[in-house]
This record gives sequence, C-alpha cells and structure tokens, in this order.
Amino acid sequence: MENLISLVNKIQRACTALGDHGEESALPTLWDALPAIAVVGGQSSGKSSVLESIVGKDFLPRGAGIVTRRPLVLQLHKINEGREYAEFMHLPRKRFTDFAAVRKEIADETDRETGRSKQISSVPIHLSIYSPNVVNLTLVDLPGLTKVAVEGQPESIVQDIENMVRSFIEKPNCIILAISPANQDLATSDAIKISREVDPRGERTFGVLTKIDLMDKGTDAVDMLEGRSYKLQFPWIGVVNRSQADINKSVDMIAARRREYEYFANSPEYRHLANRMGSEHLGKMLSKHLETVIKSRIPGLQSLISKTINELEVELSRLGKPIASDAGGKLYMIMEICRNFDQVFKEHLDGVRSGGDKI
Ligand code: GDP
Ligand code: NA
Ligand code: MG
Repeated sequence: MENLISLVNKIQRACTALGDHGEESALPTLWDALPAIAVVGGQSSGKSSVLESIVGKDFLPRGAGIVTRRPLVLQLHKINEGREYAEFMHLPRKRFTDFAAVRKEIADETDRETGRSKQISSVPIHLSIYSPNVVNLTLVDLPGLTKVAVEGQPESIVQDIENMVRSFIEKPNCIILAISPANQDLATSDAIKISREVDPRGERTFGVLTKIDLMDKGTDAVDMLEGRSYKLQFPWIGVVNRSQADINKSVDMIAARRREYEYFANSPEYRHLANRMGSEHLGKMLSKHLETVIKSRIPGLQSLISKTINELEVELSRLGKPIASDAGGKLYMIMEICRNFDQVFKEHLDGVRSGGDKI
C-alpha cells in the first residue's frame, strides 16, 4: 500500500496545481487540513543548514542577510533505486540532477516574484526531491525572523516576515520545527518566542539546537537538550551542521553527518544523549511523527475530500461537458485524484481497524 505521506504529498500538489480555480471550492481548506512541518527561526540560526542535512544535499541558496524570501515547500520522496533528482512545480517535466542548478532556480524563481528587490512574497515555491537517501517528509522553509530592516528593505519587513511565519504556524495542523542556536540564550530565541505564541504548551513544536560546537568553552547544552531550560512535549534535538569554513571547503554532507555523529558520541557531556541527536535522527523522527499525525487525521481528511469531490462535480457540470477548457481538464484531474484517495484512505482505515499496519 502506498505510503501515507506520499499520498498527502500528492493531494498537496494537486491542490496547488489547480491554482486559482480552487478558490471557490473546498480545496484551500483541504490544503490547510494537510499536516506539514514548517521551519522557523531567526536569521542565520541554521534553518537552511538543518534542511540540507535532513535531505543530505547541498541545494539551498545561502549567504548573509535574507536569502529565503518566499516560502519553499519541500517534498521529499523516498525512491527505492536510481539517481536522485529534483523537480519544481513551476517547471513540470524538467528533471534536475545537478543540485547547484536547483539552488540557482530557487534564487531565480524568488526574484521572478519579488523583482530582485529584497522584498518578500508569501507565494510559495514548490520543490520535490526524489532520492533513495531521504525519508518521506514535507517541510516548509520560511524567511528568517529578523529585528531590523537593512538597506533597500521597507521598514515593514520585520513585521511582514513575522506575519508570514505566523500565518503558517498558527494552523493547528502545522508541526513547528523551531531552530535556536545553542550559542545564544534560549530566552532570546526568535523561534521559541513565536512558537510559544501559537503553541503555548509545546504540543506540536520540535525544538532543534544548532551550533552546539560553537558554544563558549566551559558551557554545554545539556540543560537545554534535557528540556530544563524550556520544556516541550517532544525531546529537544541537538545538531552540528557544517560551519561556513566547511561550506567554503565543500565538505560533503555524508562526511558532515558522520562527523556530527562522532561529535555527540565522543563528547563526555553528550554521550548519554547521542542516540537521539543529529540530523539523521531528526529526519527519521519527523517522518515518523508526520505519519502518526496524518493517520490520526484520516477521518477528517476523508470527509473534506468527499466534500471536495462534491464541489468539483458541481463546478464541472457548470463548465459543461465535454471538458474542453483548461480549467475543466484540471478540475477533472483533481477529482480523479481525490477519488483515488478516498479509496486508499478507506483501505488504511480498514487496516487500522483490523489491527494490521499495512503501510
Ligand atoms: P539560516 O539563515 O537560518 O538559514 O542559517 P544558515 O543555515 O544559512 O546558517 C548560517 C551560518 O551558520 C552558515 O555560515 C552556517 O555554516 C553556520 N552554521 C549553521 N549551523 C551551524 C552549526 O551547527 N555549527 C557551525 N559551526 N556552524 C553552523
Ligand atoms: Na541567512
Ligand atoms: Mg536560510
């Protein structure tokens, strides 16, 4: 049976592909109901680094200042064999196997929407990565929270970014990946500040501590990692990403992962936590959690999908058959996808009821 996360990925893509025609139907509601993971944190806290470590690839634009200026919806699909590749929704049928070209396309597509200014836009870029080395996961990278506008940016940018981030994480189905650098006081963490607003009890927030290797000598992150500094329902996860010097030297991601693992396993203060530290563990844990959340939402999703199918049928009959127009063709396609889901969800539910885990 198809993996639940990849199923939900497909509905997400279908909802987006429908674009404007979805406005009048239940599709936007359906999109909001689908669980996803949003990455939040201050500028340079290590968000892009964490995402790249989870994917195990270098593919995100980076640099000082606001690099991420549009939400990036990143869908990871595990394939069993073959070479890894990437695809953008705005460039259907173009396969990228060169990840440097992926990085360039993200930057170019950001500029197409924001016109090369340092403005931000809430219109997402959709990127799918197919690889044998990833776990099934949907992650949304968001612009970094900042405290001051820089030259060329309107004063409102600080508030605009905060509002954009909030609009994603306030949805009850959003799982928050809150990134805080370990070499700064947690009390000043932008990620904690904003996630506490929307999830005061820490029920859907995963705390990630970056830059543990950059802490002052004589201090360590044990209190933070053991949840004594700020309590969340889920255990904190520490990571050691590549430093800027590593990036400049093109230290590859696989070597970096191994080094990260050794860092925790070999330091006396972290050894007892080593099996739940690092980016590889983070990716696996998020995938497992996302699947659990999706499973728990199947009944709700199913009724939303039936509602969507009904609305699409009405819309289609309004357009008239045969479906000649582009809009009609798309609607028809989405309706077929929804019907398929309805079927697969039913099978999953039957699987759950009969006690068998068929995933
Ligand atoms: P973002 O702005 O939140 O996306 O942050 P980036 O991922 O671009 O990281 C900002 C800078 O911090 C880069 O130069 C990274 O190399 C560096 N960095 C991020 N995480 C770590 C870490 O765990 N250890 C070290 N030494 N450097 C890190
Ligand atoms: Na940055
Ligand atoms: Mg970034």
